[in-house]
Amino acid sequence: MHPFLQQAELRDHASEHDYELVAYSPLARGGVFDDDVLSAIADDHGVSEAQVSLAWLRESGVTAIPKATGEAHIRDNLASLDLELSDDEVARIDAIEHTERRVDPGFGPDSWA
Ligand SMILES: NC(=O)c1ccc[n+]([C@@H]2O[C@H](COP(=O)([O-])OP(=O)(O)OC[C@H]3O[C@@H](n4cnc5c(N)ncnc54)[C@H](OP(=O)(O)O)[C@@H]3O)[C@@H](O)[C@H]2O)c1
Repeated sequence: MHPFLQQAELRDHASEHDYELVAYSPLARGGVFDDDVLSAIADDHGVSEAQVSLAWLRESGVTAIPKATGEAHIRDNLASLDLELSDDEVARIDAIEHTERRVDPGFGPDSWA
């Protein structure tokens, strides 16, 4: 799950049945750095698109496990805990129409985009 694979049906199911949803590939494997909406919100806050994506996941009630291989990215991702998005910003990310499943194993669901 990430801003280009928003999993609305799965989020509703998790909420209804009270279980924790975990977002793998929460940065779309690096794809979040190339989106106008995420970049505009990041610029407004003076933060990275990674932080915006992770804050959006958090505010959507989802736990994220980003992968980062160096201290700078790890610190950047951790700093997303201090980023608060406005309702309008969350709505702008919710409205991103671009859909992209980056991880698609044969055993995975094919209808929960
Ligand atoms: N079990 C499964 O089926 C499954 C499937 C997918 C993913 N996962 C797990 O989920 C986690 C997510 O990893 P992922 O690689 O799929 O995708 P991801 O977390 O969406 O993206 C990782 C990419 O974003 C870059 N990045 C991370 N933080 C950044 C920052 N603050 N600024 C700029 N670039 C940043 C990383 O670069 P650097 O490496 O250079 O930091 C890497 O290229 C991993 O722990 C993975 O093992 C599990």
